[in-house]
Amino acid sequence: MSGNGIGDLRGIIQRLDYVADTGFDAIWISPIFPSPMADFGYDVSDYCDIHPLFGDLETFDELLATAHERNLKIILDFVPNHSSDQHPWFIESRSSRNNPKRDWYIWKDAKDDGSLPNNWESEFGGPAWTWDEKTQQYYLHTFLRQQPDLNWRNPEVVEAMHNNLRFWLDRGVDGFRVDAVIYLIKSAKFTDNPPSTPGSFWDKLGRRLSPDHTAHSQGTYEQIRLMRKVFDEYEDRVHIGETGGTTNFAQLIPYYGNPLDGYDIPFNFSLLFADWDATQISSLIREYYAVIPEGGSPNFVMGNHDAHRIATRYGYENHRSVAMLLLTLWGIPTIYYGDELGMEDVFIPVAERIDPWGINKPDEDFGRDPERTPMQWDASPNAGFTTGKPWLPLADNYKQSNVAMQSADPHSTLNFYKTLLRLRRELSALHIGSFTFVDNLAKDVLAYVREADGMRLFVAINFGAETKEINISQITSDSKTLLSTDFESYRGTTINLPAHQSVLLEI
Ligand code: NOJ
Repeated sequence: MSGNGIGDLRGIIQRLDYVADTGFDAIWISPIFPSPMADFGYDVSDYCDIHPLFGDLETFDELLATAHERNLKIILDFVPNHSSDQHPWFIESRSSRNNPKRDWYIWKDAKDDGSLPNNWESEFGGPAWTWDEKTQQYYLHTFLRQQPDLNWRNPEVVEAMHNNLRFWLDRGVDGFRVDAVIYLIKSAKFTDNPPSTPGSFWDKLGRRLSPDHTAHSQGTYEQIRLMRKVFDEYEDRVHIGETGGTTNFAQLIPYYGNPLDGYDIPFNFSLLFADWDATQISSLIREYYAVIPEGGSPNFVMGNHDAHRIATRYGYENHRSVAMLLLTLWGIPTIYYGDELGMEDVFIPVAERIDPWGINKPDEDFGRDPERTPMQWDASPNAGFTTGKPWLPLADNYKQSNVAMQSADPHSTLNFYKTLLRLRRELSALHIGSFTFVDNLAKDVLAYVREADGMRLFVAINFGAETKEINISQITSDSKTLLSTDFESYRGTTINLPAHQSVLLEI
Protein backbone atom coordinates (compact mmCIF):
# COMPACT_ATOMS: atom_id res chain seq x y z
CA MET A 1 0.00 0.00 0.00
CA SER A 2 2.78 2.48 0.88
CA GLY A 3 4.51 1.48 -2.36
CA ASN A 4 7.70 0.35 -0.62
CA GLY A 5 7.35 -3.23 -1.81
CA ILE A 6 6.47 -4.64 1.60
CA GLY A 7 3.02 -5.70 2.74
CA ASP A 8 1.54 -3.54 5.51
CA LEU A 9 -1.46 -3.01 7.75
CA ARG A 10 -3.18 -0.53 5.41
CA GLY A 11 -2.83 -3.10 2.64
CA ILE A 12 -4.46 -5.77 4.81
CA ILE A 13 -7.34 -3.42 5.63
CA GLN A 14 -7.93 -2.91 1.91
CA ARG A 15 -8.11 -6.64 1.31
CA LEU A 16 -10.34 -7.62 4.23
CA ASP A 17 -13.40 -7.91 1.99
CA TYR A 18 -11.56 -10.52 -0.07
CA VAL A 19 -10.64 -12.44 3.06
CA ALA A 20 -14.21 -12.41 4.36
CA ASP A 21 -15.77 -13.20 0.96
CA THR A 22 -13.47 -16.15 0.42
CA GLY A 23 -14.82 -17.64 3.61
CA PHE A 24 -11.97 -17.37 6.09
CA ASP A 25 -12.76 -16.77 9.76
CA ALA A 26 -9.53 -15.34 11.08
CA ILE A 27 -6.20 -13.93 9.93
CA TRP A 28 -2.92 -14.76 11.63
CA ILE A 29 -0.36 -12.04 10.91
CA SER A 30 3.35 -12.83 11.27
CA PRO A 31 5.25 -10.42 13.59
CA ILE A 32 4.57 -6.74 12.87
CA PHE A 33 6.51 -5.34 15.83
CA PRO A 34 9.63 -3.16 15.77
CA SER A 35 12.51 -5.35 14.68
CA PRO A 36 15.87 -5.09 12.93
CA MET A 37 14.41 -7.78 10.61
CA ALA A 38 17.30 -10.23 10.85
CA ASP A 39 14.62 -12.95 10.68
CA PHE A 40 11.79 -10.93 9.11
CA GLY A 41 10.19 -9.83 12.36
CA TYR A 42 10.91 -12.95 14.43
CA ASP A 43 13.57 -10.85 16.15
CA VAL A 44 11.45 -8.43 18.15
CA SER A 45 13.04 -5.31 19.64
CA ASP A 46 9.82 -3.92 21.16
CA TYR A 47 6.89 -6.22 21.93
CA CYS A 48 4.42 -3.35 22.40
CA ASP A 49 4.51 -1.32 19.22
CA ILE A 50 4.17 -1.62 15.44
CA HIS A 51 7.15 -1.50 13.09
CA PRO A 52 6.90 1.73 11.03
CA LEU A 53 7.33 -0.39 7.89
CA PHE A 54 3.89 -1.85 8.56
CA GLY A 55 2.03 1.12 10.07
CA ASP A 56 1.39 2.31 13.59
CA LEU A 57 -0.82 1.51 16.56
CA GLU A 58 -3.63 3.68 15.25
CA THR A 59 -3.70 1.80 11.95
CA PHE A 60 -3.57 -1.45 13.87
CA ASP A 61 -6.66 -0.42 15.87
CA GLU A 62 -8.37 0.45 12.60
CA LEU A 63 -7.47 -2.97 11.21
CA LEU A 64 -8.92 -4.65 14.27
CA ALA A 65 -12.16 -2.65 14.10
CA THR A 66 -12.55 -3.15 10.34
CA ALA A 67 -11.93 -6.88 10.65
CA HIS A 68 -14.41 -7.20 13.51
CA GLU A 69 -17.07 -5.40 11.47
CA ARG A 70 -16.67 -8.23 8.96
CA ASN A 71 -16.72 -10.93 11.63
CA LEU A 72 -13.07 -11.67 11.04
CA LYS A 73 -10.71 -12.37 13.93
CA ILE A 74 -7.17 -11.01 14.10
CA ILE A 75 -4.49 -13.27 15.55
CA LEU A 76 -1.02 -11.90 16.22
CA ASP A 77 2.30 -13.71 16.51
CA PHE A 78 3.97 -13.76 19.92
CA VAL A 79 7.69 -14.58 19.94
CA PRO A 80 8.57 -15.63 23.50
CA ASN A 81 11.60 -17.87 23.05
CA HIS A 82 13.92 -15.08 21.96
CA SER A 83 14.02 -11.34 21.45
CA SER A 84 16.19 -9.34 19.10
CA ASP A 85 19.74 -8.66 20.23
CA GLN A 86 18.67 -5.01 19.83
CA HIS A 87 15.93 -5.31 22.44
CA PRO A 88 16.74 -2.97 25.36
CA TRP A 89 16.64 -6.02 27.68
CA PHE A 90 19.44 -7.75 25.82
CA ILE A 91 21.45 -4.56 25.45
CA GLU A 92 21.33 -4.29 29.24
CA SER A 93 21.95 -7.98 29.76
CA ARG A 94 25.12 -7.99 27.71
CA SER A 95 26.40 -4.72 29.22
CA SER A 96 27.93 -6.43 32.27
CA ARG A 97 27.79 -9.63 34.29
CA ASN A 98 26.26 -7.68 37.19
CA ASN A 99 23.50 -6.04 35.26
CA PRO A 100 20.08 -6.82 36.78
CA LYS A 101 18.94 -8.11 33.36
CA ARG A 102 21.96 -10.45 32.97
CA ASP A 103 19.86 -13.44 33.98
CA TRP A 104 17.04 -12.50 31.58
CA TYR A 105 19.00 -14.36 28.89
CA ILE A 106 21.00 -17.59 29.00
CA TRP A 107 24.70 -16.97 29.60
CA LYS A 108 27.30 -19.65 30.10
CA ASP A 109 31.06 -19.88 30.60
CA ALA A 110 33.26 -21.56 28.04
CA LYS A 111 34.41 -25.06 28.98
CA ASP A 112 37.79 -25.23 30.75
CA ASP A 113 39.53 -25.79 27.42
CA GLY A 114 37.84 -22.66 26.05
CA SER A 115 35.36 -24.58 23.87
CA LEU A 116 31.58 -24.12 23.55
CA PRO A 117 29.42 -24.94 26.60
CA ASN A 118 27.82 -27.91 24.78
CA ASN A 119 26.95 -29.23 21.31
CA TRP A 120 23.61 -27.45 20.86
CA GLU A 121 23.12 -26.10 17.36
CA SER A 122 21.19 -23.17 15.98
CA GLU A 123 18.10 -24.10 13.96
CA PHE A 124 19.57 -21.99 11.19
CA GLY A 125 22.98 -23.65 11.18
CA GLY A 126 26.14 -23.38 13.25
CA PRO A 127 26.49 -23.42 17.05
CA ALA A 128 23.65 -22.15 19.25
CA TRP A 129 26.24 -20.16 21.24
CA THR A 130 27.84 -16.80 20.51
CA TRP A 131 30.81 -15.47 22.45
CA ASP A 132 30.48 -12.05 24.03
CA GLU A 133 33.93 -10.50 24.04
CA LYS A 134 33.13 -7.81 26.57
CA THR A 135 31.72 -10.00 29.34
CA GLN A 136 33.64 -13.17 28.40
CA GLN A 137 30.68 -15.56 28.29
CA TYR A 138 28.59 -17.28 25.65
CA TYR A 139 24.88 -16.54 25.16
CA LEU A 140 22.40 -19.06 23.81
CA HIS A 141 20.40 -18.57 20.62
CA THR A 142 18.25 -21.38 19.29
CA PHE A 143 17.94 -19.42 16.04
CA LEU A 144 20.18 -16.60 14.74
CA ARG A 145 22.81 -14.96 16.91
CA GLN A 146 20.63 -11.83 16.57
CA GLN A 147 17.87 -13.78 18.39
CA PRO A 148 19.16 -14.45 21.94
CA ASP A 149 17.01 -16.88 23.95
CA LEU A 150 15.14 -15.38 26.89
CA ASN A 151 15.50 -17.17 30.21
CA TRP A 152 12.01 -18.42 31.05
CA ARG A 153 13.28 -19.85 34.35
CA ASN A 154 13.50 -16.26 35.57
CA PRO A 155 10.10 -15.17 37.02
CA GLU A 156 10.77 -11.55 36.04
CA VAL A 157 10.97 -12.58 32.39
CA VAL A 158 7.74 -14.55 32.69
CA GLU A 159 5.94 -11.58 34.22
CA ALA A 160 7.29 -9.09 31.67
CA MET A 161 6.36 -11.34 28.75
CA HIS A 162 2.87 -11.96 30.14
CA ASN A 163 2.43 -8.20 30.35
CA ASN A 164 3.44 -7.91 26.70
CA LEU A 165 0.59 -10.29 25.86
CA ARG A 166 -1.81 -8.27 27.97
CA PHE A 167 -0.87 -5.11 26.05
CA TRP A 168 -2.40 -6.59 22.87
CA LEU A 169 -5.18 -8.55 24.51
CA ASP A 170 -6.31 -5.29 26.19
CA ARG A 171 -6.39 -3.70 22.73
CA GLY A 172 -8.80 -6.40 21.60
CA VAL A 173 -6.75 -8.86 19.54
CA ASP A 174 -8.53 -12.20 19.25
CA GLY A 175 -5.57 -14.35 20.12
CA PHE A 176 -1.98 -15.29 19.47
CA ARG A 177 0.00 -17.87 17.60
CA VAL A 178 2.99 -18.44 19.87
CA ASP A 179 6.28 -18.92 18.05
CA ALA A 180 8.88 -21.66 18.58
CA VAL A 181 7.35 -22.43 21.92
CA ILE A 182 8.68 -25.98 22.06
CA TYR A 183 12.04 -24.56 23.15
CA LEU A 184 10.91 -22.37 26.04
CA ILE A 185 12.61 -24.33 28.84
CA LYS A 186 15.82 -26.17 27.99
CA SER A 187 17.73 -28.72 30.05
CA ALA A 188 19.11 -27.01 33.16
CA LYS A 189 22.06 -29.39 32.92
CA PHE A 190 22.81 -28.29 29.36
CA THR A 191 23.10 -31.92 28.28
CA ASP A 192 24.39 -32.51 24.73
CA ASN A 193 21.74 -33.36 22.14
CA PRO A 194 22.07 -36.74 20.36
CA PRO A 195 22.40 -37.07 16.56
CA SER A 196 19.08 -37.07 14.70
CA THR A 197 17.85 -40.42 13.42
CA PRO A 198 18.00 -40.75 9.63
CA GLY A 199 14.51 -40.24 8.15
CA SER A 200 13.20 -38.57 11.31
CA PHE A 201 11.35 -35.26 11.36
CA TRP A 202 14.54 -33.42 12.33
CA ASP A 203 16.67 -35.19 9.79
CA LYS A 204 14.21 -34.19 7.04
CA LEU A 205 14.60 -30.59 8.13
CA GLY A 206 18.33 -30.91 7.69
CA ARG A 207 19.15 -30.85 11.40
CA ARG A 208 22.12 -32.94 12.56
CA LEU A 209 20.89 -33.19 16.13
CA SER A 210 17.61 -34.24 17.71
CA PRO A 211 16.54 -31.59 20.26
CA ASP A 212 15.95 -34.10 23.08
CA HIS A 213 17.39 -31.72 25.69
CA THR A 214 16.11 -28.47 24.23
CA ALA A 215 12.51 -29.15 23.13
CA HIS A 216 9.20 -30.41 24.55
CA SER A 217 10.25 -30.41 28.21
CA GLN A 218 7.95 -30.67 31.23
CA GLY A 219 9.00 -27.16 32.14
CA THR A 220 7.79 -25.90 28.76
CA TYR A 221 4.41 -27.59 29.16
CA GLU A 222 4.14 -25.91 32.56
CA GLN A 223 4.93 -22.46 31.12
CA ILE A 224 2.18 -22.92 28.51
CA ARG A 225 -0.33 -23.48 31.30
CA LEU A 226 0.81 -20.28 32.99
CA MET A 227 0.58 -18.37 29.70
CA ARG A 228 -2.90 -19.77 29.16
CA LYS A 229 -4.01 -18.22 32.42
CA VAL A 230 -3.26 -14.80 30.89
CA PHE A 231 -5.59 -15.60 27.98
CA ASP A 232 -8.24 -16.72 30.45
CA GLU A 233 -8.28 -13.23 31.98
CA TYR A 234 -10.13 -12.27 28.76
CA GLU A 235 -13.25 -13.51 26.96
CA ASP A 236 -12.97 -15.61 23.81
CA ARG A 237 -9.29 -15.37 22.95
CA VAL A 238 -7.57 -18.15 21.10
CA HIS A 239 -4.25 -19.60 22.23
CA ILE A 240 -2.35 -21.29 19.41
CA GLY A 241 1.11 -22.79 19.77
CA GLU A 242 3.76 -23.52 17.19
CA THR A 243 4.13 -26.95 18.69
CA GLY A 244 4.33 -28.92 15.50
CA GLY A 245 8.02 -29.74 15.48
CA THR A 246 7.36 -33.43 15.94
CA THR A 247 5.58 -36.43 14.49
CA ASN A 248 5.73 -37.98 17.95
CA PHE A 249 2.25 -37.32 19.23
CA ALA A 250 3.28 -38.18 22.78
CA GLN A 251 5.24 -34.91 22.65
CA LEU A 252 2.48 -32.92 20.97
CA ILE A 253 -0.57 -33.87 23.02
CA PRO A 254 0.62 -32.50 26.41
CA TYR A 255 0.38 -29.01 24.87
CA TYR A 256 -3.41 -29.31 25.23
CA GLY A 257 -2.85 -29.35 28.98
CA ASN A 258 -4.65 -31.59 31.35
CA PRO A 259 -7.54 -30.90 31.68
CA LEU A 260 -7.33 -28.71 28.55
CA ASP A 261 -5.55 -25.84 30.28
CA GLY A 262 -2.88 -25.37 27.60
CA TYR A 263 -3.33 -24.51 23.92
CA ASP A 264 -6.68 -24.41 22.17
CA ILE A 265 -4.77 -25.20 18.99
CA PRO A 266 -1.38 -26.86 19.40
CA PHE A 267 -0.31 -26.76 15.76
CA ASN A 268 -0.03 -30.21 14.21
CA PHE A 269 2.55 -30.26 11.41
CA SER A 270 2.55 -34.01 10.93
CA LEU A 271 1.04 -33.77 7.43
CA LEU A 272 3.08 -30.70 6.51
CA PHE A 273 6.20 -32.81 6.35
CA ALA A 274 4.63 -36.08 5.19
CA ASP A 275 4.86 -37.49 1.66
CA TRP A 276 1.75 -37.26 -0.49
CA ASP A 277 1.06 -40.93 0.02
CA ALA A 278 -2.32 -42.40 1.01
CA THR A 279 -0.87 -44.97 3.41
CA GLN A 280 1.46 -42.56 5.19
CA ILE A 281 -1.14 -39.81 5.47
CA SER A 282 -3.90 -42.09 6.68
CA SER A 283 -1.73 -43.65 9.37
CA LEU A 284 -0.65 -40.21 10.63
CA ILE A 285 -4.30 -39.12 10.82
CA ARG A 286 -5.31 -42.34 12.59
CA GLU A 287 -2.50 -42.09 15.13
CA TYR A 288 -3.31 -38.45 15.79
CA TYR A 289 -7.07 -38.86 16.20
CA ALA A 290 -6.51 -41.74 18.58
CA VAL A 291 -4.77 -39.51 21.10
CA ILE A 292 -6.80 -36.25 20.94
CA PRO A 293 -7.94 -35.60 24.51
CA GLU A 294 -11.64 -35.58 25.35
CA GLY A 295 -13.07 -32.15 24.47
CA GLY A 296 -9.96 -31.06 22.53
CA SER A 297 -10.07 -30.11 18.84
CA PRO A 298 -7.64 -31.66 16.38
CA ASN A 299 -6.03 -29.34 13.83
CA PHE A 300 -4.05 -29.64 10.63
CA VAL A 301 -1.53 -27.30 9.01
CA MET A 302 -0.66 -28.01 5.38
CA GLY A 303 1.16 -24.80 4.49
CA ASN A 304 2.97 -21.92 6.15
CA HIS A 305 5.77 -19.43 5.67
CA ASP A 306 8.39 -22.02 6.70
CA ALA A 307 7.47 -24.81 4.27
CA HIS A 308 7.47 -25.14 0.50
CA ARG A 309 4.14 -24.36 -1.15
CA ILE A 310 1.59 -27.18 -1.32
CA ALA A 311 1.42 -26.97 -5.12
CA THR A 312 5.20 -27.37 -5.32
CA ARG A 313 5.72 -29.90 -2.53
CA TYR A 314 2.92 -32.26 -3.50
CA GLY A 315 2.78 -31.50 -7.24
CA TYR A 316 0.46 -28.99 -8.88
CA GLU A 317 -1.83 -31.83 -9.98
CA ASN A 318 -2.55 -32.62 -6.33
CA HIS A 319 -3.03 -29.15 -4.89
CA ARG A 320 -6.83 -29.21 -4.88
CA SER A 321 -6.87 -32.66 -3.34
CA VAL A 322 -4.74 -31.31 -0.50
CA ALA A 323 -7.43 -28.68 0.08
CA MET A 324 -10.13 -31.34 -0.07
CA LEU A 325 -8.30 -33.28 2.62
CA LEU A 326 -7.51 -30.30 4.83
CA LEU A 327 -11.04 -28.90 4.71
CA THR A 328 -12.97 -32.13 5.14
CA LEU A 329 -10.91 -33.73 7.91
CA TRP A 330 -12.13 -33.49 11.50
CA GLY A 331 -10.14 -30.56 12.87
CA ILE A 332 -9.35 -26.89 12.54
CA PRO A 333 -7.57 -26.07 9.26
CA THR A 334 -4.86 -23.43 8.78
CA ILE A 335 -4.37 -22.11 5.24
CA TYR A 336 -1.36 -20.11 4.09
CA TYR A 337 -2.14 -17.03 1.94
CA GLY A 338 -2.11 -17.77 -1.77
CA ASP A 339 -2.56 -21.52 -1.36
CA GLU A 340 -6.19 -20.80 -2.22
CA LEU A 341 -4.92 -19.82 -5.70
CA GLY A 342 -2.58 -22.78 -5.99
CA MET A 343 0.43 -20.46 -5.75
CA GLU A 344 3.74 -22.24 -6.31
CA ASP A 345 7.26 -21.73 -4.97
CA VAL A 346 9.22 -19.13 -6.89
CA PHE A 347 12.79 -20.08 -7.70
CA ILE A 348 15.23 -17.59 -6.19
CA PRO A 349 18.90 -17.86 -7.10
CA VAL A 350 21.26 -18.34 -4.15
CA ALA A 351 22.78 -14.88 -4.68
CA GLU A 352 19.36 -13.25 -4.33
CA ARG A 353 18.25 -15.11 -1.22
CA ILE A 354 17.18 -12.95 1.72
CA ASP A 355 16.04 -15.60 4.22
CA PRO A 356 18.87 -16.07 6.74
CA TRP A 357 18.30 -19.83 6.83
CA GLY A 358 18.58 -20.04 3.05
CA ILE A 359 21.70 -17.87 3.16
CA ASN A 360 23.31 -20.04 5.86
CA LYS A 361 22.61 -23.22 3.89
CA PRO A 362 23.34 -22.12 0.33
CA ASP A 363 23.80 -25.57 -1.22
CA GLU A 364 20.66 -27.03 0.14
CA ASP A 365 16.96 -26.79 -0.42
CA PHE A 366 16.19 -25.08 2.87
CA GLY A 367 15.53 -21.41 2.17
CA ARG A 368 12.05 -20.03 2.81
CA ASP A 369 11.97 -17.20 0.26
CA PRO A 370 10.31 -19.34 -2.46
CA GLU A 371 7.08 -19.69 -0.45
CA ARG A 372 6.98 -16.06 0.74
CA THR A 373 6.55 -14.23 -2.57
CA PRO A 374 3.85 -11.55 -2.99
CA MET A 375 0.18 -12.43 -3.17
CA GLN A 376 -1.04 -12.47 -6.76
CA TRP A 377 -4.00 -10.10 -6.80
CA ASP A 378 -4.33 -9.22 -10.48
CA ALA A 379 -2.49 -8.94 -13.80
CA SER A 380 -1.32 -5.36 -13.25
CA PRO A 381 2.39 -4.63 -12.66
CA ASN A 382 3.64 -6.40 -9.52
CA ALA A 383 0.34 -8.29 -9.36
CA GLY A 384 -1.36 -5.43 -7.54
CA PHE A 385 0.78 -6.09 -4.46
CA THR A 386 2.81 -2.89 -4.57
CA THR A 387 3.66 0.02 -6.81
CA GLY A 388 7.33 -0.27 -5.78
CA LYS A 389 9.82 -3.10 -6.17
CA PRO A 390 8.37 -6.11 -4.33
CA TRP A 391 10.49 -7.40 -1.41
CA LEU A 392 10.66 -10.79 -3.14
CA PRO A 393 10.19 -11.55 -6.84
CA LEU A 394 6.76 -12.41 -8.18
CA ALA A 395 5.89 -15.72 -9.74
CA ASP A 396 6.24 -15.66 -13.54
CA ASN A 397 2.67 -16.88 -13.88
CA TYR A 398 1.02 -14.07 -11.95
CA LYS A 399 -0.61 -12.66 -15.10
CA GLN A 400 -2.38 -15.97 -15.68
CA SER A 401 -3.01 -16.89 -12.08
CA ASN A 402 -4.35 -14.22 -9.75
CA VAL A 403 -7.36 -13.38 -7.62
CA ALA A 404 -9.06 -11.25 -10.28
CA MET A 405 -8.91 -13.93 -12.97
CA GLN A 406 -9.66 -16.85 -10.70
CA SER A 407 -12.67 -15.04 -9.24
CA ALA A 408 -14.16 -14.84 -12.72
CA ASP A 409 -13.50 -18.50 -13.55
CA PRO A 410 -16.07 -20.81 -11.94
CA HIS A 411 -13.66 -23.75 -12.19
CA SER A 412 -10.66 -22.04 -10.61
CA THR A 413 -8.84 -23.18 -7.51
CA LEU A 414 -10.07 -20.05 -5.73
CA ASN A 415 -13.68 -20.97 -6.45
CA PHE A 416 -12.95 -24.53 -5.40
CA TYR A 417 -11.72 -23.26 -2.01
CA LYS A 418 -14.66 -20.86 -1.70
CA THR A 419 -17.16 -23.65 -2.23
CA LEU A 420 -15.34 -25.92 0.16
CA LEU A 421 -15.17 -23.23 2.83
CA ARG A 422 -18.87 -22.48 2.38
CA LEU A 423 -19.82 -26.17 2.63
CA ARG A 424 -17.65 -26.51 5.71
CA ARG A 425 -19.47 -23.63 7.34
CA GLU A 426 -22.96 -24.76 6.29
CA LEU A 427 -22.76 -28.50 6.91
CA SER A 428 -22.39 -29.60 10.49
CA ALA A 429 -21.22 -32.99 9.19
CA LEU A 430 -18.06 -31.25 7.98
CA HIS A 431 -17.23 -29.15 10.97
CA ILE A 432 -18.42 -31.23 13.89
CA GLY A 433 -19.43 -34.55 12.34
CA SER A 434 -18.06 -37.94 13.28
CA PHE A 435 -15.16 -39.27 11.24
CA THR A 436 -14.80 -42.86 10.03
CA PHE A 437 -12.24 -44.19 7.59
CA VAL A 438 -13.54 -46.41 4.76
CA ASP A 439 -10.63 -48.74 4.16
CA ASN A 440 -9.48 -50.80 1.20
CA LEU A 441 -11.67 -49.25 -1.48
CA ALA A 442 -8.78 -49.03 -3.92
CA LYS A 443 -5.00 -48.76 -3.82
CA ASP A 444 -3.80 -45.16 -3.38
CA VAL A 445 -7.25 -43.98 -2.37
CA LEU A 446 -7.95 -42.43 1.01
CA ALA A 447 -11.66 -42.40 1.90
CA TYR A 448 -13.78 -41.50 4.89
CA VAL A 449 -17.29 -40.65 6.02
CA ARG A 450 -18.32 -37.61 8.03
CA GLU A 451 -21.72 -37.66 9.63
CA ALA A 452 -23.91 -35.34 11.72
CA ASP A 453 -27.56 -34.31 12.03
CA GLY A 454 -28.77 -37.06 9.73
CA MET A 455 -26.39 -36.11 6.92
CA ARG A 456 -23.65 -38.46 5.68
CA LEU A 457 -20.79 -37.24 3.56
CA PHE A 458 -18.20 -39.35 1.79
CA VAL A 459 -14.77 -38.14 0.72
CA ALA A 460 -12.41 -40.03 -1.57
CA ILE A 461 -8.97 -38.81 -2.58
CA ASN A 462 -7.03 -40.46 -5.35
CA PHE A 463 -3.32 -40.07 -4.56
CA GLY A 464 -2.33 -42.18 -7.53
CA ALA A 465 -1.53 -41.48 -11.17
CA GLU A 466 -4.30 -43.71 -12.57
CA THR A 467 -8.09 -43.64 -12.56
CA LYS A 468 -9.48 -45.72 -9.70
CA GLU A 469 -12.82 -47.48 -9.59
CA ILE A 470 -14.38 -46.96 -6.19
CA ASN A 471 -17.34 -49.07 -5.24
CA ILE A 472 -19.33 -47.72 -2.31
CA SER A 473 -22.33 -50.02 -2.49
CA GLN A 474 -21.36 -51.39 0.96
CA ILE A 475 -22.07 -48.05 2.57
CA THR A 476 -24.79 -46.46 0.41
CA SER A 477 -27.29 -47.13 -2.33
CA ASP A 478 -26.84 -43.76 -4.04
CA SER A 479 -24.71 -40.64 -3.97
CA LYS A 480 -24.67 -37.04 -5.12
CA THR A 481 -21.60 -34.89 -5.78
CA LEU A 482 -21.31 -31.76 -3.64
CA LEU A 483 -17.88 -30.86 -5.00
CA SER A 484 -15.02 -32.47 -6.85
CA THR A 485 -11.54 -31.24 -7.69
CA ASP A 486 -12.27 -31.49 -11.43
CA PHE A 487 -15.78 -30.00 -11.04
CA GLU A 488 -17.27 -33.19 -12.52
CA SER A 489 -20.47 -34.69 -11.17
CA TYR A 490 -20.20 -38.26 -9.94
CA ARG A 491 -23.30 -40.33 -9.03
CA GLY A 492 -24.31 -43.77 -7.96
CA THR A 493 -22.26 -46.39 -6.14
CA THR A 494 -19.40 -46.83 -8.61
CA ILE A 495 -17.17 -43.81 -8.96
CA ASN A 496 -14.37 -43.73 -11.51
CA LEU A 497 -12.11 -41.19 -9.90
CA PRO A 498 -9.39 -39.89 -12.25
CA ALA A 499 -5.73 -39.63 -11.22
CA HIS A 500 -5.02 -36.98 -8.55
CA GLN A 501 -8.70 -36.04 -8.18
CA SER A 502 -10.96 -36.15 -5.18
CA VAL A 503 -14.64 -35.95 -4.52
CA LEU A 504 -17.06 -34.96 -1.77
CA LEU A 505 -20.35 -36.83 -2.01
CA GLU A 506 -23.54 -36.78 -0.04
CA ILE A 507 -24.53 -40.41 0.54
C1 NOJ B 1 9.24 -20.20 13.66
C2 NOJ B 1 8.78 -19.19 12.66
O1 NOJ B 1 7.64 -19.67 11.99
C3 NOJ B 1 9.95 -18.93 11.74
O2 NOJ B 1 9.58 -18.20 10.61
C4 NOJ B 1 11.02 -18.26 12.53
O3 NOJ B 1 12.17 -18.10 11.73
C5 NOJ B 1 11.41 -19.09 13.76
N1 NOJ B 1 10.27 -19.61 14.45
C6 NOJ B 1 12.22 -18.27 14.74
O4 NOJ B 1 11.41 -17.34 15.40
